Amino acid sequence: MQVFEAIQSRRSFRKFLPTPVSRSDMEEIMHVSVHAPSAQNQQPWSFYVCQDSKKIQDLGQAIEEIAFEQMPMLRQRKEHLGVHNSIFFDASTVVFVAKTTSPKMPTYADFDCGLATENVILAATAKGLQCIPVAGPIFFGQSLIKEALAIPDSEQLMLAIPMGYGDPAGRAADYQVDLAAKVHWI
Ligand SMILES: Cc1cc2nc3c(=O)[nH]c(=O)nc-3n(C[C@H](O)[C@H](O)[C@H](O)COP(=O)(O)O)c2cc1C
Repeated sequence: MQVFEAIQSRRSFRKFLPTPVSRSDMEEIMHVSVHAPSAQNQQPWSFYVCQDSKKIQDLGQAIEEIAFEQMPMLRQRKEHLGVHNSIFFDASTVVFVAKTTSPKMPTYADFDCGLATENVILAATAKGLQCIPVAGPIFFGQSLIKEALAIPDSEQLMLAIPMGYGDPAGRAADYQVDLAAKVHWI
């Protein structure tokens, strides 16, 4: 798949099939994804690729309990999505994005992590996979995830990317982008 096609065809998915993603596909995706631009080439990111379905399930369940306690309305969202777990949407693989807590250029470190994250998303799309970047699991479960994945104190979790073979029912709704309002020609 060409880059233009990957960018244009990508959509977020909030429901995944149980079909596992091969380790070799994930290795290819991560191999290209770390080649992202960053301020002063600081590369402030670390990726944690979890394909341990029990770990994903256990974490998803524990974080869901916290999320439901703090935001009861999320229960309805789960019912609407029709997933077993609404934190990782039943994905068989989750890539966690972390940022060093002592970057050389702190102002741009989040930006750098975002660029590398988009690489993961586009590379997964090019491989015929679907995914979604989500902040929710980190908001509710930062310390749980860090402990379960043995992520050091020198890193802060930023985002999770559940990925796999998307259930068509979980494809995000279409929306319009106002090109003229977003791109200004001088
Ligand atoms: C930084 C970031 C955090 C996000 N967090 C969540 C989230 O916690 N839960 C969720 O359902 N979607 C989350 N999303 C997905 C967005 O809702 C989605 O990208 C947006 O609605 C546009 O849809 P599209 O990805 O299909 O183009 C997040 C996206 C980004 C970039």
